[in-house]
Amino acid sequence: MIARDLLYEGKAKKVFLTDRDDRYLIRYKDDATAFNGEKKGSIIGKGAINNTMSAYFFQLLQSEGVESHFVEQTSSTEMVVRRVEIIPLEVIVRNIAAGSMSARLGIAEGTQLARPVVEFSYKRDDLGDPLVNDDHILALGLADEEELAKLREMALRVNTILREYLSKAGITLVDFKLEFGRLDNGEILLADEISPDTCRFWDSETGEKMDKDRFRRDLGNIEEGYRKALKRVLGGGK
Ligand code: C5P
Repeated sequence: MIARDLLYEGKAKKVFLTDRDDRYLIRYKDDATAFNGEKKGSIIGKGAINNTMSAYFFQLLQSEGVESHFVEQTSSTEMVVRRVEIIPLEVIVRNIAAGSMSARLGIAEGTQLARPVVEFSYKRDDLGDPLVNDDHILALGLADEEELAKLREMALRVNTILREYLSKAGITLVDFKLEFGRLDNGEILLADEISPDTCRFWDSETGEKMDKDRFRRDLGNIEEGYRKALKRVLGGGK
């Protein structure tokens, strides 16, 4: 696959057009941002780790019947994906209270939730990705009822599969963010990435964080945390 013009550059990835109009090429970067771009840095090797982990998870999910945009990993930092129109929603699933949920609702970080919580945020950097509910999504036309039900169902299915897989690798899946896209025929596919940038991974024994909170909260050993998470994921439960 030949990369052509740069279509879009995000905080952590570049998306290129290719010689096939139904494929994009994604290049994962080492750049890191947090707090809606207020904090900036670089995590050496992050692009390769996030690309490799995302490719692995997309294939695992595919084998369990969850369709995604992933086609193939073409280099350490690049993957080819199907061309989708991204739905402007961040779909967050939480198993344990942490981060913004703990702050907003005054629940101690680490509190086990009685059932998974699905949240939607409107993808708008200029507004800080505000939380929206089903009515907002339908009233603003961000998705229709059938799509909304599908997003929720797919997000919970991803949670079930990843939670079980990761627990065998000694990782507690605290929460994560997904994005979805539409094919030309309207079919919804899982898109974006699944990586330490977009998930909270805690060591099941020690509680050690192996994700972007190491960067957000200046905990040190960021690269090491990302590398450990990838090694455990690829190790498949060993
Ligand atoms: O910050 P918050 O607690 O809402 O994040 C919940 C989960 O979603 C975390 O795993 C975080 O890494 C992820 N997230 C993300 N991109 C955002 C916001 C949150 O990947 N813009």
